[in-house]
Amino acid sequence: MAKRIGILTSGGDCPGLNATIRGVAKAAYEQMEGVEIVGIAGGFSGLIKGEYREMKPSEFSGILNVGGTILGTVRTPFKNMRKIEDDKIDKVANMVHNYEKMKLDCLCTLGGNGTHKTANLLSEEGLNIVGLPKTIDNDIWGTDVTFGFHTAVDIATDVIDRLHTTAASHGRVMIAELMGNKAGWLTLYAGLAGGADVVIIPEIPYSQDAVLESVYKRAEGGKAFSIIAIAEGALRKDEAGMKKKEIRSLRAAEGVSSAAERLTKTIETETGIETRLVVPGHMQRGGSPSAYDRILATKFGVHAAQLINHGKFGYTVALQSNKLTENKLKDIAGKTKYVSPASDIVKVARSMGMSLGD
Ligand code: F6P
Repeated sequence: MAKRIGILTSGGDCPGLNATIRGVAKAAYEQMEGVEIVGIAGGFSGLIKGEYREMKPSEFSGILNVGGTILGTVRTPFKNMRKIEDDKIDKVANMVHNYEKMKLDCLCTLGGNGTHKTANLLSEEGLNIVGLPKTIDNDIWGTDVTFGFHTAVDIATDVIDRLHTTAASHGRVMIAELMGNKAGWLTLYAGLAGGADVVIIPEIPYSQDAVLESVYKRAEGGKAFSIIAIAEGALRKDEAGMKKKEIRSLRAAEGVSSAAERLTKTIETETGIETRLVVPGHMQRGGSPSAYDRILATKFGVHAAQLINHGKFGYTVALQSNKLTENKLKDIAGKTKYVSPASDIVKVARSMGMSLGD
């Protein structure tokens, strides 16, 4: 039975991290005798540097609805984990050493894809790891949903709702650039929930002509405004398959830095309709978790505590077909869950006349 539990949050923050920390802690105190929890500051960076503290049970109260993470978070790229850089620090050796120094029986790692890769690495190094899937991108393999995603969908939907009234009043095209560099879950869900006319996601490269056609079609049908939701990682058809560097230079030559900015210019120039770009950015990750995410985070936390209680390590918690389960870290690390262009949700969007820009 594990008694000394380390917890860290790594990668980009999101609503629901504190609710999950609370879930793990409260369930662990409830299910096991003599539990001690050690909070590691700033994710794997804190584990490398040995920045941690023993936490009191009272610290897990009053945080269910608080955004961000009380532990702090840092992006520590997986690709550099085994690299010895200028500071000469052996990061993996330090993490193993500090785990032992803290006398941990296990470590809970809350994070996204990068975090899961490092969690798997530490598991392979012999540490007892339990992962918890966090990200507004919803792109972790093996779980239907990650905590943080639905709150971001709610926020992005509100953005689209608000754009609707101003777009309709002015007869403009309003473009919302939503987060999601590789996966388009957030843009697709918010686009559907907000009734966007065009939804452009990284998995389905877009054609400028198809987007223009949608805008013209609406104008011809008497709708003077259009709403476009585009993921930050969207690619024009000719950009699909190009290297990141090539895409950057192509866009720089056109005087734009993103697909959304380019589309804004193109639509205004080609159609003559005033077009505005809105980038809610990190607003999508800020603030309180939604009720859905508080419940999901709590369920995930309780399931993680059960795994710890049963000594089941090297796993990450998941939700599949509405059932709590767990996946082996080695089976999911390094895989990304993309939106399949053939999925039901994409079919639903197309079936009601929404353009996917292709
Ligand atoms: O992974 C979550 C996410 O919000 C992505 O959607 C986005 O591309 C990225 O993080 C932004 O990262 P940062 O907060 O480091 O700017």
